[in-house]
Amino acid sequence: MVDIHCHILPGLDDGADNIEESLRMARLAVDGGTRAIIATPHCNIPDSFENYFGRDYADIFNAFKENLRAEDIPLKIYPGHEIFSSENIGALIKKRRLLTLAGSDYPLVEFGFTEAAESVYEKLRMLVAEGLTPIVAHPERYAFVAEDDFAPYRLKALGCLLQINKGSLKGNFGREAYTASGYILENELADFVASDAHSPYMRTPYLADAYELISEAHSRDYADLLLKTNPAAVIQNKKIN
Ligand SMILES: [Fe+2]
Repeated sequence: MVDIHCHILPGLDDGADNIEESLRMARLAVDGGTRAIIATPHCNIPDSFENYFGRDYADIFNAFKENLRAEDIPLKIYPGHEIFSSENIGALIKKRRLLTLAGSDYPLVEFGFTEAAESVYEKLRMLVAEGLTPIVAHPERYAFVAEDDFAPYRLKALGCLLQINKGSLKGNFGREAYTASGYILENELADFVASDAHSPYMRTPYLADAYELISEAHSRDYADLLLKTNPAAVIQNKKIN
């Protein structure tokens, strides 16, 4: 499997606190059948996690990669960001201050949980107009999606792809996110399931349970698409239908 959303880099955001935690997360991911992770620290959040790409990010990323090699952990790691939405994301990506996933045309974008639908749609429209294909991080967690059955269809019609969190499928983010994630999956609107892992203790990068859950509730083909085929296509910057 390939995990396209994981806060595995140490000390950059509210994910792994230190390299030991990052390595425990990496081992857990491998135990659950994950072979590659795109590191997605929060960024572009004013007065909080700004994390624009630069020497700090590069040094931490390279050191982690070197640690994986030294510890013989068979996990590939790619750079990325979970980009908090603003109106200038496109320009910041062009300047390489914000990273798309693994250098692809797919930026992973998150929004405020109670942001108004029209504001979200407008920002996404701007990104699509720049030739990018936004992947909406955990749409099931946003109020405008949980409250409106048309919202996931609107997001897809704009040209976006949808990434569901493993934890939402298990009810870890409350009833609304659980119901919305089920609705998105049942209607075949989901494109990815990812861990959105923040630690080796809670919200972990272990994905085997999510794979089994989708296989049983839907089909093995759907689990393969969401956790293997589509995430691998992102790394190769291939088109996703
Ligand atoms: Fe995240």
